[in-house]
Amino acid sequence: MTDNSKVVLTGIKPTGTPHFGNYVGALQPLIAQSQLQKTFMFIADLHSLNLIHDAAEIKRHTYEISALLIALGLNLDNAVLFRQSDIPEIYQLNTLLMNVTPKGLMNRAHSYKAAMDKNTDAGLDIDAGINMGLYTYPILMAADILLYNSDIVPVGADQKQHVEFARDIAGHFNTMYGETFKLPEPVIGRDTGLIPGLDGRKMSKSYDNTIPLMAPEKDLKKKIMRIITDSKTPEESKNPDESTIFQLYKHFATDAEIAEFAQMFRAGGMGYGTAKTILFERVNSVLSGPRAEYERLMANTDELDAILADGAARARPVAIETMARVKRAMLG
Ligand code: ADP
Ligand code: TRP
Repeated sequence: MTDNSKVVLTGIKPTGTPHFGNYVGALQPLIAQSQLQKTFMFIADLHSLNLIHDAAEIKRHTYEISALLIALGLNLDNAVLFRQSDIPEIYQLNTLLMNVTPKGLMNRAHSYKAAMDKNTDAGLDIDAGINMGLYTYPILMAADILLYNSDIVPVGADQKQHVEFARDIAGHFNTMYGETFKLPEPVIGRDTGLIPGLDGRKMSKSYDNTIPLMAPEKDLKKKIMRIITDSKTPEESKNPDESTIFQLYKHFATDAEIAEFAQMFRAGGMGYGTAKTILFERVNSVLSGPRAEYERLMANTDELDAILADGAARARPVAIETMARVKRAMLG
């Protein structure tokens, strides 16, 4: 993905404090990509509104994600980092796209279907607690993608359907009003596998089993020491592939170190306490530099505001141009 003639765009929802799973599955690939090519990268705060109704919380998560990306080496020359809500044209395009989006498409959205299934399982009304923000979520996402003339949208597998919907919506629009939008394509990143959490299930804020990536050193150590293991004695041979400790270590070490750690699991003689200490020391040495920069940025949110404002200023002209084109097509 190093073709700079293609517009690359992705959004990150500020719904939680970033954890190791978010880092490996979503943030790290974006940082790597920013070394290679220009990318529109926005904090999708409007998308978090269907879930979070506390402005301070959305703002805090927006800062956390921005600070984290920057502290971990996001290339700000290539990455146009901005807040979704800072671009007024997004609200306008969202409203207009409502009129070319078939309702049936929204009924089929995985996110809406998952919410309905949850209600059914809980014996509730099928639409209980579901607001129109959630129901029309894919239209807002299509607006994000189309507003910036995106060609390529790197996302996790769970978001593929939404990008396909954006493509469908662009296609409907072009049929009704003439060629206006490019048809975007989802790109599903390298499968990093799911990072397990403290209890061995998928690490997720919904399971309350996360390790925050930028936890202070003491908390990081405490969390790592709390990773649940089986009851094998230190002497017994252990399967690294079944160990959360090893699964986490893999993302912070070189191939040679990974092979060596796997060998220590298999050989026996290493207790889980020792393995956790090795994991902690490795992770901490990789993260201590970025953590200091993260803490500095979180204490200087003016600096983050300036970076986000600069990103918005770079993104906005594209949005204005697209909106003018769409208004002309729909309203003359
Ligand atoms: P959570 O599961 O904590 O609610 P989100 O659903 O907000 O996290 O995830 C944001 C992105 O982070 C996802 O698109 C996914 O790519 C990535 N991600 C989240 N949890 C993991 C995990 N355990 N392993 C790998 N990637 C993950
Ligand atoms: N819906 C995405 C998620 O939940 C975030 C997002 C919003 C996005 N708008 C986008 C991703 C546009 C890619 C392109 O993770």
